[in-house]
Amino acid sequence: MADLDDIRDGDNFGHNTPADTSKFYLKGIANQSWGIKNRMSRIFNKQSGRTVMLAFDHGFLMGPTSGLERIDLNIAPLAEEADCLMGCRGMIRSSIPPENSKPLCLRTDTGTTILTEMNDNVLISEEDAIRLNVSCMAAMLAVGDADTEAITIRNFSKLVDIGQKYDIPVMGVTAVGKAMARDARYFGLASRVCAENGASIVKTYYTEGFENVVAACPVPIVIAGGKKLPELDALDLCYKAINCGASGVDMGRNVFQSEKPLAMMKAVKGVVHDGLSPAEGFQMYNDL
Ligand code: R5P
Repeated sequence: MADLDDIRDGDNFGHNTPADTSKFYLKGIANQSWGIKNRMSRIFNKQSGRTVMLAFDHGFLMGPTSGLERIDLNIAPLAEEADCLMGCRGMIRSSIPPENSKPLCLRTDTGTTILTEMNDNVLISEEDAIRLNVSCMAAMLAVGDADTEAITIRNFSKLVDIGQKYDIPVMGVTAVGKAMARDARYFGLASRVCAENGASIVKTYYTEGFENVVAACPVPIVIAGGKKLPELDALDLCYKAINCGASGVDMGRNVFQSEKPLAMMKAVKGVVHDGLSPAEGFQMYNDL
């Protein structure tokens, strides 16, 4: 057991000294192998250094939720606008055409559903990830949850071992239990745990003080969108996260539950890649 006495909150995040990206355009990846860099380059735009990932992995926990009733009808038509598609193997195989040229981020852990306690979690086989030609493998870390923290961190560490063996980047998905405070202290800790355990990408949630979360995470951070918001608010969320140094979004409900998902995808890309303000992005959404 580590000595837990006198754990002090960080207060020296070096905000005036950006991470060194002179050797590779994404922070924290310069010392990785050719294969990891190559796959990361498929996910992150070389000009902006950012990504707009489209998340549709929700069903493995919660079934055919609104906007995901038919992946073939709701998600496949958006694929061309996404920088990366994040989903589970069953939905990718059944509903995403194999001609798809966008990189895939495969949800690689599975377990229990919202109908029970969500207290178990296993990894699918790496052979299947390789068969699907994925550019990234994602697994959840339930940091701070007494029942699942150890299981999910063990899974995640195993997945990083596999990722390093085959040069496939691994994304840590921070899961927030109901008991957790959704603040910068918690997300900073959870994101750092992902990075410390070898994540090449961390997916977490935007919060006040997000610049400290980003600064203390040495690899690219993308934000989840969370529950459906009005479009302007969702674009504002993207804008604030990018302004704090996030490397993009991995967004689901705020895209596929939008009245006009394709227009929303394009507006999110405008904010993430082209520096549009939330108002400009919203104008774009309305125009489209
Ligand atoms: C959460 O575990 C899932 O990985 C979702 O992909 C994630 O929450 C992003 O989706 P949303 O933007 O709907 O929150």
